[in-house]
Amino acid sequence: MTHKKPFIKPFVYALLPLLGLVLVGCGAIPANPVTVNPASVNEIAAGNAENGQKLFMGYTHFEYEGPPCMGCHGIGDDDGLLGGGALGPNLTNTAAEKTDDDIIGILSNTGIVISPVMRPIYTDFPLTPQEQADLLAFMKSSVGQPETDKEGLIYGISFIGTLGVALALGFIYRNRLRSVRRALVNKAEKELQ
Ligand code: HEC
Repeated sequence: MTHKKPFIKPFVYALLPLLGLVLVGCGAIPANPVTVNPASVNEIAAGNAENGQKLFMGYTHFEYEGPPCMGCHGIGDDDGLLGGGALGPNLTNTAAEKTDDDIIGILSNTGIVISPVMRPIYTDFPLTPQEQADLLAFMKSSVGQPETDKEGLIYGISFIGTLGVALALGFIYRNRLRSVRRALVNKAEKELQ
């Protein structure tokens, strides 16, 4: 089957630049790696919790295209329809437990305390000082809120989805057994004749 190779190889090579373009387009390859500063005391004081919430939830995009925090973190009782992700700790009361410096240090990758999971991501897709300050303001506004646990809702939706697929398959293949049996009966009848 060696004769097939020359046809496949150029095809694969032709696809590679296309794949690169798609990755750059999706932000998977940062077009312009940048470094940003940690938010200053004045910038922290001017942080806007409402903007911070939109950034956290992904309603507003980060300037350098970093992923929204809720992919990995839950926060308060208003963290989207299905709640935040569970990879990172729930951040509802973090702003009361950690200093501003610690949190800004984590968000800007300049602190003593650094998240090994977040650092590589937000090094390639850094948060601007304004974004750091807005996120911190939002985290402060969520302190003391009840934490929602939406796991039950997610299991419920999965169950209904599974049931739906089972019912749909049952409907699509509803005549299958009957037609198999019909074919067997026909064959038997023919042989008897
Ligand atoms: C890819 C998953 C992921 C994303 C996205 C993410 N984090 Fe994290 N974060 C973590 C993990 C995991 C930890 C715990 C430390 C570790 O294991 O690295 C953490 C820790 C933290 C901490 C320290 C919490 C504590 O109690 O020690 C803060 C604050 C934080 N993240 C804020 C944010 C903010 C704000 C964003 C959005 C800009 C964000 N994170 C995006 C995974 C993530």
